[in-house]
Amino acid sequence: MELFSYCIGLIGAKRERPTEDLLSELIAARFDDGSALSDAELSSFAAVLLIAGHDTVTNLLANALHDLLAHPEQLAALRRDPSLVGAAVEEALRFRGSAMTTVNRVATEDIEAGGVTIRKGELVRFLLNAANRDTEVRADPHSFDIGRATAQHVAFGMGPHFCLGQRLARQEATIALTEILQRFSTLELAVPADEVRWLPSDAIRGPVELPLRYAR
Ligand code: HEM
Repeated sequence: MELFSYCIGLIGAKRERPTEDLLSELIAARFDDGSALSDAELSSFAAVLLIAGHDTVTNLLANALHDLLAHPEQLAALRRDPSLVGAAVEEALRFRGSAMTTVNRVATEDIEAGGVTIRKGELVRFLLNAANRDTEVRADPHSFDIGRATAQHVAFGMGPHFCLGQRLARQEATIALTEILQRFSTLELAVPADEVRWLPSDAIRGPVELPLRYAR
C-alpha cells in the first residue's frame, strides 16, 4: 500500500511537471477515443514495473554470482573469454532463474496434463525453474555449464505475457557481471556454497545474503 501511495504521489507530481520518462509518457498517452489511463491504472503499472524490474534482476545477479563461484571452472572459462558473458547470463537464467512461479494461468476448459485433470476455471501456477531443468529437454539439466550449445529456457515466461523487461534484464545482468569480474581480480564465496540460505519465497529465487571475499 505504501508503494501504491508513493506511486500516486509521483504521478500527481509528474502530471503537474512532466519529465522525460516513461511515467510522464504514460500520463500524456491517449487512447484512440481521447481517453487516458486512470490514476489507479497508472499507479498499478508503475508499481508492477518497479517490483518486476527490481527484485528479479537483483536476485538473478546474486544467483549468477553464486553459481559461477560454486563452479570455479566455469568462472575461469568466463574470465579467460569474457565474450562468454551472454551465454553465462542465459545459463544463470536457466539454472536458477529468479522468478520461480511468476506465470499464473486460468484454465479456459478442462485439460489433461501429466495424468491430472485441470478443471475449467482452476488456477495453474507454472514452476519455471522446474521446467528449466526438464530431463526430457536436455540430458544433464542439473549441471551448470555456460558453454552448453543451447541454454533455451522459460525464465521470462512465454506467450502474450512474455516478460516486458527481458532485454533490459539481460543487459543489466551482462553489464553488471562484466564489471564485477573486471573490477575484482579474485572473488570467492566467503561461506561454503551449500551453506548459502535461500529466500523463504515461492515466487522469487535468490539468496538471503551472499557473503563474498574479494581483492581488487
Ligand atoms: C531476471 C530478470 C527478470 C525475470 C526472470 C523476469 C521474469 C518474468 C516472468 C516469468 C514474467 C511472466 C511472464 C508470463 O506470465 O508469461 C514477467 C512478466 C513481466 N515482467 Fe519480467 N522478469 C525480469 C525482469 C524484468 C524487468 C527488468 C522488467 C521491467 C523493468 C520486467 C517487467 C515485467 C512486466 C511488466 C511483466 C508483465 C508482462 C505482461 O503481463 O504482459 N521484468 N517477467
